[in-house]
Amino acid sequence: MDDKDNGALESSTKWTIHVEARLKTRSSARFDTIKGLVSSYISSFERIAFPSILEGWEEVPELASSVDRITVCESLCPSPSLKMEEAVIQIHVYQPSDNDAFEEFSNSSGNRNEDDDTMAASVCELPNRSYEGLWDSLIYAGDIKMNLLDYIHATLVFSDASVDFNLVSWNRVVLLHGPPGTGKTSLCRALAQKLAIRLSHRYTHARLLEINSHSLFSKWFSESGKLVQRLFTSITELVEEEDGFVVVLIDEVESLTAARAGAMAGTEPSDGLRVVNALLTQLDKLKQRKNVLIMATSNLVKAIDTAFVDRADIVQYVDLPSREAIYEILRSCLCEIIAKGIVSPVQVPTLKQIQIYELVNNPKGGLGCTDPQERSKSVGLRLLSLAAKCRAQSMSGRALRRLPVLALARYIGIGNLGIMHPTNQASRPGEALQPRGVGAQVELWLDGMEKAVNEQAKEQERLV
Ligand SMILES: Nc1ncnc2c1ncn2[C@@H]1O[C@H](COP(=O)(O)OP(=O)(O)OP(=O)(O)O)[C@@H](O)[C@H]1O
Ligand SMILES: [Mg+2]
Repeated sequence: MDDKDNGALESSTKWTIHVEARLKTRSSARFDTIKGLVSSYISSFERIAFPSILEGWEEVPELASSVDRITVCESLCPSPSLKMEEAVIQIHVYQPSDNDAFEEFSNSSGNRNEDDDTMAASVCELPNRSYEGLWDSLIYAGDIKMNLLDYIHATLVFSDASVDFNLVSWNRVVLLHGPPGTGKTSLCRALAQKLAIRLSHRYTHARLLEINSHSLFSKWFSESGKLVQRLFTSITELVEEEDGFVVVLIDEVESLTAARAGAMAGTEPSDGLRVVNALLTQLDKLKQRKNVLIMATSNLVKAIDTAFVDRADIVQYVDLPSREAIYEILRSCLCEIIAKGIVSPVQVPTLKQIQIYELVNNPKGGLGCTDPQERSKSVGLRLLSLAAKCRAQSMSGRALRRLPVLALARYIGIGNLGIMHPTNQASRPGEALQPRGVGAQVELWLDGMEKAVNEQAKEQERLV
């Protein structure tokens, strides 16, 4: 992020556009060199469209040998493209770490058996290849993602201006809460990855530390307060490296902080009280540091200690997806299985397209229709009505993303797929299945997913 950029209007006519250039794993190119090459490549454009994946840069040999992908990210600018003179381009070059063997933080006091070690937290280097694409895959009805980025930016502006912390202060704590499976944990990881990319000109490295709230509490219940303190001592050590940015994720924070109210009412052991107090004290110490962000998630915001909630600069409700968000989630599922050859190719309309079709059209094309546009419309409209059904059942993002698997397993049947199995020989472990000819028709998948949704509705009735 540019020091003056808030991703919004820079002057009366200019918008900041972020461009992310991902380097190949083995590239040893200097980030500055790549940045200069990308910049001069883009400066030849007349207009820039966003969000989009840039093409054509492969013709620059140095880019072709080092760069993997160049993305123009979403912008607050309401139009889908800008003239170059209206845009301020910010280029972020990054090379995701391949290392997904996370380093783990043991909370051992040193004099225990190894078996007793509890993994209080895990740390991974950012940007990390395992979180690539996560940010884009998360779809929400509101501007949750942009709002979070804006918050980070606002804190940077204040930090840079050395605002007196006694007069204007913030806690560097963000709390996401909402029903299960709405993408809270994923959003925390995705934001951490995004920050690592966007702040790479300020920090040489970034890390995500995920606190395992449950294990912290359950294993050595009577010592939990001390464990929290010890864990935060380690976090403080990480944060002391001022050229590194640290995102701390406290998942399901209610399990750490639920205890105080109970303790005050005399129903919980006082250890619970010590945990919360230790956590709050440690958070207060960390807020002085510029290079840290604490992200917490919860299903039960009412169960969280109010003093913790009060420390959160942003308390964001993450709702179940709207019909439109569901459409986009299901569309991304379908596009993925089409891209992998499991479903035969068909154009699935974008949300904007389908909203127009919905208003003006009544397509005739179903399976067997020869006009590709009519067929695409009909597929889109069916998907939209499936989305409405999912919405009526209050399905979470998690439940939506597994629909294709359920559809295949229960209703389509692997045998009917018309693809798969490496030709001639049995597959070896890890070997990708090769499409054999065309995949199954998309209508079959829509039927299967719809049946899976109906089935789920029946199951839910039984649960109530
Ligand atoms: N809004 C969304 N857009 C796209 N995918 C989503 C969305 N919400 C959830 N998912 C998918 O659901 C899966 C589960 O998400 P995640 O674990 O982040 O949810 P959560 O809110 O942390 O759930 P829980 O409260 O149960 O911990 C993820 O793999 C993600 O891809
Ligand atoms: Mg979660």
